[in-house]
Amino acid sequence: MTSGFSSLKILVTGASGFIGSHLSDRLAQENEMVLVDDFSVGPRSNLASLEGRPNVSIVTADVTDRDQMQELCAGVDTVFHLAISCLRTSLGNPRLSHDVNAGGTLSACAAAQAQGVRRFVYVSSSEVYGTAETTPMAETHPCRPTTVYGASKLAGELYALAYFKTYGMPALVVRPFNTYGPREPYAGARAEVIPRFLLQLEAGHAPVIYGDGSQTRDFTFVEDTVAGILGAAACDALVGDAVNVAYGHEVSIRRIAELLARIAGSDLEPVHENARPGDVMRHFADTEKARRLFGYQPKVDLETGLLRTADWLRQERLAGRTDAAAAGTPNW
Ligand SMILES: NC(=O)c1ccc[n+]([C@@H]2O[C@H](COP(=O)([O-])OP(=O)(O)OC[C@H]3O[C@@H](n4cnc5c(N)ncnc54)[C@H](O)[C@@H]3O)[C@@H](O)[C@H]2O)c1
Repeated sequence: MTSGFSSLKILVTGASGFIGSHLSDRLAQENEMVLVDDFSVGPRSNLASLEGRPNVSIVTADVTDRDQMQELCAGVDTVFHLAISCLRTSLGNPRLSHDVNAGGTLSACAAAQAQGVRRFVYVSSSEVYGTAETTPMAETHPCRPTTVYGASKLAGELYALAYFKTYGMPALVVRPFNTYGPREPYAGARAEVIPRFLLQLEAGHAPVIYGDGSQTRDFTFVEDTVAGILGAAACDALVGDAVNVAYGHEVSIRRIAELLARIAGSDLEPVHENARPGDVMRHFADTEKARRLFGYQPKVDLETGLLRTADWLRQERLAGRTDAAAAGTPNW
């Protein structure tokens, strides 16, 4: 499937990360690509299929380095800005979260503005909302983040939109909800709940839930998240505005543990550890705006997406790239 973008020069930050690498795969089919990452956490192997392609430059750079970002933005049509330090890292290192997520976005905006890019796509997060006060959560839902990570993502949104209002830089904001699928991080502080449960179950251990498991998320398969980011990026009506991208269903963490136990053929009941500090209790997206503005229609239902994720993780294990120890708890 093509990206809807063609014959353009496109820069992606956080390109070797989970979502950035899938986005880069799609865009590289028809565009000249500048793929930027500092490789602090995103493995270079995520870009293996793009290495050596004549239309792809893979650049090691820090998004907080405004001068280098400005050089890299020369001649670029569209910037997709995804580089971050993740939520769990922010719990122990809030300063890094601020520096990379807020500061890095400011640098990226300044660089893009100086080079006159045609569009700046800021990939934000549902974490900017905090816990749902009303559901489903439309873009008008109050933004009251519960973590420094969420606050730093919100600062990034406000910087991108301020660059639109003050300098006319054509910026827009995409707010994906929790995304899962192949290449999702499964080790250390970056390990996400779905691969963490799968690794625990495959190793014959009970899945470890932080808190009582009643917290909910709107899990979205990575292909649907990427389709939403691309659809939003091409939508002129969204310049200066924000849009949710999500599957549009609410599921509890306890239910995820049940579904994954079934996939893994396990009858082990989950065990519980202390709740994660600042954990959001409820997320359920209203995706009507994305549907209305660019016909967004997620395609991968939860059970199919979980099966595809489990198949991928099994391949990772067979290749010796992970083991149960990768899913240690607590992981922040
Ligand atoms: N994964 C999700 O569930 C989810 C949900 C909502 C929003 N998002 C957003 O999507 C975007 C991508 O998330 P992801 O899950 O792919 O994250 P990720 O951690 O997999 O990728 C982030 C990438 O940024 C790179 N990076 C970190 N610091 C950097 C720096 N200073 N300079 C350059 N690169 C740096 C990392 O090496 C990594 O490859 C983020 O903006 C995130 O807020 C993700």
